Amino acid sequence: MIRKVTVAAGALMLVAGIAAASASDDPIASRQAMMKNTGASIGAIVKMAKGEAEFDALAASLAIRAMNNSAIGIVHLFPTGSETGMDTEAAPKIWEDMAGFVEKAKAMEEATAKAIAAPAASLDELKAQLGEIGGTCKGCHETYRIKKS
Ligand code: HEC
Repeated sequence: MIRKVTVAAGALMLVAGIAAASASDDPIASRQAMMKNTGASIGAIVKMAKGEAEFDALAASLAIRAMNNSAIGIVHLFPTGSETGMDTEAAPKIWEDMAGFVEKAKAMEEATAKAIAAPAASLDELKAQLGEIGGTCKGCHETYRIKKS
């Protein structure tokens, strides 16, 4: 029991650490760091899905928790005045349609929350979660991100 609690606390600290690492005074730098972390998180799962890494339920769950954390925080990192600068790939559409943008973040939050509530016990289950979560990245990027490279 004590061990279980320690592991859970460790996982939470890790998630909090990721959030702290992406915190900065500049919202553009913060959101780019947060999205980079999100890319790394999904990358770990993609590797498992491709068979380039062993299926690891704990690592997958930590990556999904980190993405859930990003999904909750991301919408706060697009204040008025952060439309341009730092080679931002944020599309002007974000500020024209903030409600639509928030909805896309909500979809990512829900897909990750669902995966947290029912952790994948097999690679096939993880692949299904990856499909759902990955779809929400694309869902936002295709409208609200202008990819520069
Ligand atoms: C609600 C919208 C939204 C969702 C959902 C979203 N993104 Fe993003 N993402 C953005 C925006 C906007 C940018 C550009 C940010 C900037 O440059 O200011 C971005 C940028 C990125 C970048 C480039 C970061 C950099 O600067 O190098 C990566 C990688 C990325 N997203 C991965 C993901 C992944 C993986 C997911 C899903 C798990 C995801 N994103 C979900 C909006 C979103």
